[in-house]
Amino acid sequence: MSGLIWGGVDCQRLAEEYGTPLYVYDSGIIRSRCREIRETFLARWVNTRARYASKAFMTRAMVKLIQDEGLGLDVVSYGELQTALSVNFPTERIEMNGNAKSREEIELAVNSGVGRIIVDHPDELRVIEEYARRAGRSQKILIRVAPGVDAHTHSYISTGQTGSKFGFPEEGPMLRDAIRYAQESEHIDFRGLHFHVGSQLFDPQDHLKAIGKVTGLMRDLKNEMNVLIRELNFGGGFGAVINPSIQSVKLEDFTDPMMKMLYAKCEEYNLEVPRAIIEPGRWIVSEAGITIYRVENIKELPKVTYIAVNGGMSDNPRYALYQAEYEAVSVKEPNAPAYDRDGGTHVSVVGKCCESGDILIENAKLPRLEAGDLIALYNTGAYTFSMSSSYNRLLRPAVVFVERGKSKLVVERESIEDMLKGDLI
Ligand code: LLP
Repeated sequence: MSGLIWGGVDCQRLAEEYGTPLYVYDSGIIRSRCREIRETFLARWVNTRARYASKAFMTRAMVKLIQDEGLGLDVVSYGELQTALSVNFPTERIEMNGNAKSREEIELAVNSGVGRIIVDHPDELRVIEEYARRAGRSQKILIRVAPGVDAHTHSYISTGQTGSKFGFPEEGPMLRDAIRYAQESEHIDFRGLHFHVGSQLFDPQDHLKAIGKVTGLMRDLKNEMNVLIRELNFGGGFGAVINPSIQSVKLEDFTDPMMKMLYAKCEEYNLEVPRAIIEPGRWIVSEAGITIYRVENIKELPKVTYIAVNGGMSDNPRYALYQAEYEAVSVKEPNAPAYDRDGGTHVSVVGKCCESGDILIENAKLPRLEAGDLIALYNTGAYTFSMSSSYNRLLRPAVVFVERGKSKLVVERESIEDMLKGDLI
């Protein structure tokens, strides 16, 4: 039986070379997602753009890859923006989101010349105006709206519902006053609207509902205030599947119906079709990533077997936060059948953090393992490295890119020196 291969590389060898836990990304898969975006969205529909939501997974090598693939970047913080700037990512292809932007973040965004700031609060407008005036330019903005759609996903990753902390309510004076302010300002160039309904969605119904609402809003804004919406950002949210044997979400299964609806509604309401922008994060990276762990020990209790590994919620908090489902395989024998100790026992893969909630997989299907064996979790490319912590002073794992049989270290494993740096007595 052959061992697990990822991006053409033997995972056993990767673990020996780089240690564990280890985040491994098949950069070929990431590139093929970018290609799918170009071919089935950007080339198929005129006047469209795609921005990678870097919160899903950001390293400098990842930013470079996105740059090579010709997409833009969505950033939400000083750190994300500085990371993009550190590799000279073309700033006009960067957009800045965020519901609580600081003055420093807005200052950096305006001064570095980001393509769009997505405004999430009326107060931002004055700050943008101030820095744009000082820089002697006009800053292009979109305004984020909450389209009042309750997305079919975990409540923590649903963002477009009425009462959300994100965006301006569609109804009422907050949005209208902001648009008026932006239009009257010499230093703000109001281009249109933005929404993001939520994350990890498997069919386009929530996006379609939102497009229905927002095109209705566009019609109202035109009638009420003669406002022209030239750009509409649909956000991200396209889902990722838990193992490579399951058919991935096809982007066009979302974007074709979304674009058709946009065209139909614009025709019905007699509106110009705005530029359409998508902002996927998870769909681009999640399935490209796996995490390799070493089994530290196995505890067989009457009703449950705990497989404890050398990482956990510190490198992947997604079960602890959202009860996210994962699947694991043995690196040595990825196709081996699941071992059932005495019929119906429960197997949990747990981490080494001091919390009962430090679970990676609640009900794992794994062969019989021993301490020292390696396992790999699939579909861990999104929101793992980017949400990692140093809880229990665990050192953050390294990140490796693999493609066509070659591996490349892109983030070094954190060292104890890194951890103690800046920690003063
Ligand atoms: N655009 C905006 C404005 C967003 O807030 C997000 C995600 C995205 C795009 C990208 O969404 P995606 O395509 O990745 O679904 N930590 C959670 C996910 C939080 C998503 C937050 N916003 C998780 O681990 O599931």
